[in-house]
Amino acid sequence: MTLSAVEVNQLKQAPAVDGVLPVVLARWSARSFADRDISPADLRKVFEAARWAASSYNEQPWRFLVGLRNSSTHKKIYSTLSGHNQSWAAAAPVLILGVASSKFSHNGTDNRNALYDLGAAASYLTLQAAALGLTSHQMAGYDQAAARQAFEIPDSFVLGAVIALGYQGEPSALAHQELITLETTPRTRKPLSEFVLSAWGEPANLA
Ligand SMILES: Cc1cc2nc3c(=O)[nH]c(=O)nc-3n(C[C@H](O)[C@H](O)[C@H](O)COP(=O)(O)O)c2cc1C
Repeated sequence: MTLSAVEVNQLKQAPAVDGVLPVVLARWSARSFADRDISPADLRKVFEAARWAASSYNEQPWRFLVGLRNSSTHKKIYSTLSGHNQSWAAAAPVLILGVASSKFSHNGTDNRNALYDLGAAASYLTLQAAALGLTSHQMAGYDQAAARQAFEIPDSFVLGAVIALGYQGEPSALAHQELITLETTPRTRKPLSEFVLSAWGEPANLA
């Protein structure tokens, strides 16, 4: 029997760690979206959060193309998605394409942290979304050349991820069993000892 949306949300929660922001533990990437729109006020809040991310030289290189359900922007972003992503993302009430200027505005030189900064802003966006009871799902699986062409994005911008945004839906609404399995599998992470190091290959002592 397929788990309910509430049960899935429970099993996707990261184990509580005292002092870690609850929203960090609560955020996860759903694929099933409820048939419910996001209010303009809440949508504005997720971009306000992105707005306050740090960036190299305070360049704020990010730009977000935002498509609401049934809009031509939503259709264009959706049309660039891989088949796998199209199989679940159609129901997302909002699709967002994140891009970043790869040139500094103050002197025109290369900003090698453009994508890094876009990622930081996207993280703020996804955490704010979680705080508002929304779910977000980032996607690298889309045709960047097609997206660049569809939106006439200048060459001086690099493309990041597409983000599906909405309210979590019932897993049973997903199109096929493989998606339901992904939706109902607990999340996993590497232990800190694998990525917090005091020397190369040597775990830092965080005890
Ligand atoms: C940059 C990026 C690209 C991703 N691309 C895809 C994608 O194309 N399709 C997909 O289903 N999930 C995609 N994901 C979602 C990841 O698989 C997911 O974040 C990861 O498994 C961790 O799960 P969690 O977000 O629920 O913690 C992407 C996530 C990120 C951050």
